Amino acid sequence: MAIRLGDTAPDFQAETTEGPISFHDWKGDSWAVLFSHPKDYTPVCTTELGTVAKLKPEFDKRNVKVVGLSVDPLDSHSGWAADIEETQGAALNFPLIADSGKTVADLYDMIHPNANDTLTVRSVFIIDGANKVRLILTYPASTGRNFDELLRVIDSLQLTDGYKVATPANWNDGDDVIVAAALSDDEAKEKFPKGFTTLKPYLRVTPQPNK
Ligand code: BEZ
Repeated sequence: MAIRLGDTAPDFQAETTEGPISFHDWKGDSWAVLFSHPKDYTPVCTTELGTVAKLKPEFDKRNVKVVGLSVDPLDSHSGWAADIEETQGAALNFPLIADSGKTVADLYDMIHPNANDTLTVRSVFIIDGANKVRLILTYPASTGRNFDELLRVIDSLQLTDGYKVATPANWNDGDDVIVAAALSDDEAKEKFPKGFTTLKPYLRVTPQPNK
């Protein structure tokens, strides 16, 4: 059955470039980003893995572990890793799953047969500290992902878990946020001492509370 937001991320064992992992044990109570690639030695994937390697400190800051996946074997990943370092100026600094048996790809529904019946699409799962799936994205093979967007969503999820707010369109960390509809004006005054602006009774904005 398809994985949906709020589901527990399925556990699995896998071989990776950093040794075997048991997903839930490896992740612990950190957040995780699990993202799949169609194939090793392909250009878009090469740029994506270099980009994630460069952004790793940003994921670390947010207590997020990253793990990639492609359905090629470990020896292929190892050779490709050298190309990634050479062309992207960043070495792989997170595990890349070698899912040649397609166990994880099938578990997470990463193969979309009408797009390609053997390769994984570019799937992304953001999984929280309690192993709940909080975001699912699916991109086509020809389009490299925007990993800054993943950091933006993680910022929003971690903020809205801690405060009764939601984040508006194109929000970035530090921008004003929306007061949760469930709060009365009196409750909002108490929760948000910096105040809030009422544009409509259902649209109240306040400075980001943890800044
Ligand atoms: C790529 O990563 O460049 C790619 C992979 C599979 C199909 C098309 C492009």
